Amino acid sequence: MTNKKVNNHLMIDGCDTIELVRKYGTPLYVISQKKIEYKCKEIRNEFLAKYDNTKALYASKAFLTMSMCKIIEKEGLGLDVVSGGELYTALRADFPREKILFHGNNKSYEELYMAIENKIGRIVVDNLYELELIEKISNKLDEKINILYRVTPGINSDTHKYIITGQKDSKFGIPLEKSVLFHAVEKAIESKRVKLKGFHFHLGSQLFDNSYYIKATDIVINLMRELKERLGYVTKELNTGGGYGISHIKDDNKVSLKYFIKPLMERINQKINEYNLSMPQVMIEPGRWIIAEAGITLYTIGNIKKISGVRTYIAVDGGMTDNLRSSLYGAKYNGDIANKIDDKKVNLVTVAGKCCESGDILIEDLMVPNINPGDILAIYNTGAYNFSMANNYNRNLRPSVVLVKNGKAQIMVERQTYEDLLIGEKLPGIVNCKECSPSKIKGVL
Ligand code: LLP
Repeated sequence: MTNKKVNNHLMIDGCDTIELVRKYGTPLYVISQKKIEYKCKEIRNEFLAKYDNTKALYASKAFLTMSMCKIIEKEGLGLDVVSGGELYTALRADFPREKILFHGNNKSYEELYMAIENKIGRIVVDNLYELELIEKISNKLDEKINILYRVTPGINSDTHKYIITGQKDSKFGIPLEKSVLFHAVEKAIESKRVKLKGFHFHLGSQLFDNSYYIKATDIVINLMRELKERLGYVTKELNTGGGYGISHIKDDNKVSLKYFIKPLMERINQKINEYNLSMPQVMIEPGRWIIAEAGITLYTIGNIKKISGVRTYIAVDGGMTDNLRSSLYGAKYNGDIANKIDDKKVNLVTVAGKCCESGDILIEDLMVPNINPGDILAIYNTGAYNFSMANNYNRNLRPSVVLVKNGKAQIMVERQTYEDLLIGEKLPGIVNCKECSPSKIKGVL
């Protein structure tokens, strides 16, 4: 991410990060609106404008707030949601319902009810149990709903094993065994409540090789051909998922959107012509690719622990609670000292979080200038799957999120308070026991 530097301070979208820290405290997620807009523009230029009958959705699990819904709506993209909570957020933000698509391998009755009652655009049905639930709900509500079937094409992609999804041994989607899939399609064709528009696949996340998409496309278009021949079923829509990798550290393999889109669209066209099928609407649904590089996280450095001959730890005031990715996937990040951005880097350090786990390490080896407690560390490219995976382990507070654009900063999400941690708590079975009033607790944030 190219951030300018002013007065030895790191700048983001025209805002001085040290000013942001003074105003909003740390840890702090900072999101650049301009960067999101830039990415969406690239999607419009490289995909939507270049190819007819295409649609792009933002995979909201990467980062979702009501204002993010508003930005995505303004940028002309649809929204992929994966839970009742994400759907509710989108509905509260008044996101156009016909542009919402609902994923998930085990959607509950209540979640599906909310989706159908609110007439969202598509449900991506993962299995036949879900189809039964949808039939039941649609009958009750006397509604009809457009669906896609999620299929698992049996492709092993090269990424962390927790985030591969297209392989045969996956909890997601309908296996590509003919008996299973043909039966599922027949059931949907017979149904008076669902309209099967087509198919969806998602191969995994943080992928850098476009050949997986080509292989999956070949498999799914072959399926479309068989379905046409055997059942006379015409596929109208093909959703090719998300997963485009982005650079978290400078030396990561950097790939463009075009690298994924161009060969994918060429192959779809080629195969459709070869089999004499009609061209389906093609969809993509990237999450990380849109939001990751738009975000940085700012921390205050506290204790600096030098273990001679071993390493130097610098501890920050956040950790696996605001960025779980390092400890969960061993994800690598890069950072800088935001208030000493031009100082010469002379020390190798390890950035530790403040949680009670030795594995709570944010960056293993980082070159920094001479630093002191109170200096500010910026970690780059934390826009995706950081805020959305934040948690309250050790009862740490979830940081606030600030949206910046052209030198203006606005709160997107308030920092949690200690009182927020107690929401919903009761004192069951404890007789004659009163809670201590918040006003009696001193020194609370
Ligand atoms: N579509 C479907 C059906 C998905 O399951 C996902 C991600 C996406 C689209 C968007 O993938 P993306 O473009 O963001 O790679 N927590 C993990 C990532 C989990 C991704 C889950 N599904 C991480 O932090 O790396």
